Amino acid sequence: MPNAYISGTGMFVPERIVSNDDLANDYGIDTNHEWIHKRTGIETRHFADEGVGSAELALPASEMAIANAGIDKTDLDMIIFATLSPRHCFPGEGVYLQNALGLPEAGKFVPALDIRNQCSGFLYGLATATAMVKSGGAKHVLVVGGETHSAALDLSTQGRTIASLFGDGAGAAIVSATEEDRGIRGWWLGADGRYADILCQKVWDIRQRPFFPLGEDGKGIVEPEMMWAHMEGRQVFKNAVERMIQALMQACWAEKIDMKDIDLFLFHQANLRINQYVCQMLNIPEEKTVSNIQRFGNTTAATIPLLMAEAEKDGKLKPGMKVACVAFGSGFTWGSAIIDW
Ligand code: ACO
Repeated sequence: MPNAYISGTGMFVPERIVSNDDLANDYGIDTNHEWIHKRTGIETRHFADEGVGSAELALPASEMAIANAGIDKTDLDMIIFATLSPRHCFPGEGVYLQNALGLPEAGKFVPALDIRNQCSGFLYGLATATAMVKSGGAKHVLVVGGETHSAALDLSTQGRTIASLFGDGAGAAIVSATEEDRGIRGWWLGADGRYADILCQKVWDIRQRPFFPLGEDGKGIVEPEMMWAHMEGRQVFKNAVERMIQALMQACWAEKIDMKDIDLFLFHQANLRINQYVCQMLNIPEEKTVSNIQRFGNTTAATIPLLMAEAEKDGKLKPGMKVACVAFGSGFTWGSAIIDW
């Protein structure tokens, strides 16, 4: 059975930078830098322009990952796209990326799978890719997390709690087969559906007939409480800390390693305070972590591959290092992975 390792990483964020002050000055939100920074660590985020969606952000990230892996796009056997911001209800974003990569023209009709697990989406995708590669079903799988949050944020004072957290971006990793003794050693995923409505963006309810109300003119009506994301922030914070600690401890226990043996921790970037709290509880020194929430905000499924790509570029993530990835998000869902880079 081959091992599965990450042979290349890539990233892309849109050009436009929106600072905390810009949220107040340009969008008229009653907020300020101090409030946001103190509670979340966020200073800026990137917003995509109109016409750009998650596949458009994922394309350059994927091309970079393919180049860094030293393969050709036609070597890909599968695409796994994790996003909570696909352009449409269906089809998923993966097929748009497959087409944008020019794979059909090259005669490569690789399967494209969409993962809908929000902030844990990349780790759910990584686990799926690892299983595919280890089973011999694929040699190179593109796992991408890409989000276009800016279009779906209530950028008004009413929506300020959520609007101040999220940003747009994409990160990508190629999971490849190797006979070398390295790679993704294990993954641990979890979910607790009792909390499904604590952090959600409903938009419609397929159980209703029709699935959202129609006005007299036959046009659909989306009420604000259905249109915008709903979050019980303190519940999310508390559960995130507990589940991330649990997921990390579970990974170390299963791999029979001491947490001190881990060289680099790649935490999901939901809130810098959540990660600082986890580190404090587990005695993880700050120098063993990297973070980019200060610049990018919460990019949901993209946070971990963005961290991977930046850390590789900056020389902080090198072959031979033992890496732990941990994420928590809507669902609730969570996951961890141990990687010998
Ligand atoms: N600027 C100024 N004031 C604000 C802002 C803002 N951006 N946002 C909220 N406030 C106000 C509120 O209206 C409220 O005012 P009130 O007391 O007059 O009613 C006050 O600040 C306190 O609001 P809380 O929501 O209670 O603030 P809290 O201290 O809980 O912090 C926060 C909110 C930062 C969101 C925190 O709960 C948190 O980080 N939770 C975790 C969130 C998270 O990680 N979400 C992403 C999950 S990832 C995924 O799966 C998509």
